[in-house]
Amino acid sequence: MIQEINNLKAEMLGKLEIINNAKDLEQFRLDYLVKKGPLQALFDKLKTLPNTEKPLIGKELNVCRKTIEEKFGDIKQSLESQVSSEPTIDLTLPGRRSFKGSYHPIYQTLDKMVEIFANLGFTVANGPDIEDDYHNFDALNFQADHPARDMQDTFFIKSDRNDVLLRTHTSPVQVRVMQLQKPPIRTIMPGRVYRNEAISSRSLAEFHQIEGLYIDKNVTFAELKATMMVFAQKMYGENIKFRFRPSFFPFTEPSAEMDITCYLCNGKGCRVCKHSGWLEVVGCGMVHPNVLKNCGIDPEEYSGYAFGFGIERVTMLRIGIDDIRLLHENNYKFLSQF
Ligand code: PHE
Repeated sequence: MIQEINNLKAEMLGKLEIINNAKDLEQFRLDYLVKKGPLQALFDKLKTLPNTEKPLIGKELNVCRKTIEEKFGDIKQSLESQVSSEPTIDLTLPGRRSFKGSYHPIYQTLDKMVEIFANLGFTVANGPDIEDDYHNFDALNFQADHPARDMQDTFFIKSDRNDVLLRTHTSPVQVRVMQLQKPPIRTIMPGRVYRNEAISSRSLAEFHQIEGLYIDKNVTFAELKATMMVFAQKMYGENIKFRFRPSFFPFTEPSAEMDITCYLCNGKGCRVCKHSGWLEVVGCGMVHPNVLKNCGIDPEEYSGYAFGFGIERVTMLRIGIDDIRLLHENNYKFLSQF
């Protein structure tokens, strides 16, 4: 048995002598030092020897194991120190993918709408989110105690003036544009609007609108209708179905709303369209003569139309979702789909 031990020791030392990389060292471990390896086999054999022989042979075997383990440890250490002195950059690794943001679906819609109206000759104008009662209501022909003021629950801002508020629609920008420019005027006005409303799948307290205004000589309702029609077709495709309904706004006369076939049920009637088959996307009408007068434009000489889209609504139709809140939750998984 001593002979066997010496043979194995010589064999292992011979192998260790020529090892110069981690792979071979690992192979050595698998060949000799594992539980089922030849060294352990000798320890197993030791147990079967008569007790008188055990001490001597056991000692020899332990010396053998210790020698090999020490040598193995030395080689391992020197290989590791070699590795750490090599360059640590692995040029063969694939590059890290960088995270790219994208436009929010609301702003994708806004971009598309601006593009469509720009092609129809509209410029873009902006107004302040914080407005006063005059621009948001008075100039737009809302009478002081007119119930129409209740149509839009307003957030007022505490101030000495008592008439400062968050605009409830983008229509006050119409007033600002008309006060500054002489007709012909052809402008769209996108922006955020605010209403003191309960948040639900259909409404938010803060959302976006895009206002449109066209003032010139002899502008007719037919032009308004045609413009809305072209918009709907460019936004939703040639086959989109739409309808005009009479409506009321203090600042337009006559007033209308345009509906589009519900995208979810295709007009059959469902939860989203309140079982009517139609979804309202825009309020519009011919600018009221009082509004023109308030802004210094002679209603005898000029006429015009105005419209106001809810951008969230247009977006819901465009991407096919039935809960407006999804657009304001900033859930990355939701947003990264668009
Ligand atoms: N300002 C109206 C609203 O917020 C929409 C509208 C704009 C209606 C312009 C007619 C003309 O509901």
